[in-house]
Amino acid sequence: MTVAVVYPGSFDPVTNGHLDVIERAAEGFDRVVVAVLRNVSKRPLFTLDERLDLLRDATAALPGVEVIAFEGLLVDVCRDLGVGLIVKGLRAAADFEYELQMAQMNRHLAGVDTLFLPTSPAWSYLSSSLVKEVARFGGDVADLVPPAVAALLRERTT
Ligand code: PNS
Repeated sequence: MTVAVVYPGSFDPVTNGHLDVIERAAEGFDRVVVAVLRNVSKRPLFTLDERLDLLRDATAALPGVEVIAFEGLLVDVCRDLGVGLIVKGLRAAADFEYELQMAQMNRHLAGVDTLFLPTSPAWSYLSSSLVKEVARFGGDVADLVPPAVAALLRERTT
């Protein structure tokens, strides 16, 4: 039996923190479906296709990892894929309240459970928003994101 999980997010853009979660999920599960939300509420810096390409590029060497786009309810994606478990990273206590709410809602809606992976301490301060802000003001993000993301950020913000 294939043991699969869905790892959802906006990934605008993917960071080394996201990759850490994907890599660890891929060690424990046969199939990791990275699900990229199409309509991010705030206008995304990167288009959906760019976010998908950057994720596919960064995860190409990881066995069992696939990247898809989604819109609507995450539990509907899980149902369509036949996957009953969501994986989320937790950076700090501040993440927990909202993540717990979403996990409980997803379980209420469709019985889909959520597994939380504590973010590695090396990346616990990292977020896509902060990366974009640092890049916008000329800061160096090369060691915080995959190389292709750093290159595109430089292009977008200069
Ligand atoms: O990277 P993000 O922005 O924190 O990811 C949030 C995401 C995509 C996981 C969340 O917004 C989501 O699941 N959206 C899909 C809509 C949905 O299912 N909402 C109800 C969940 S309680």
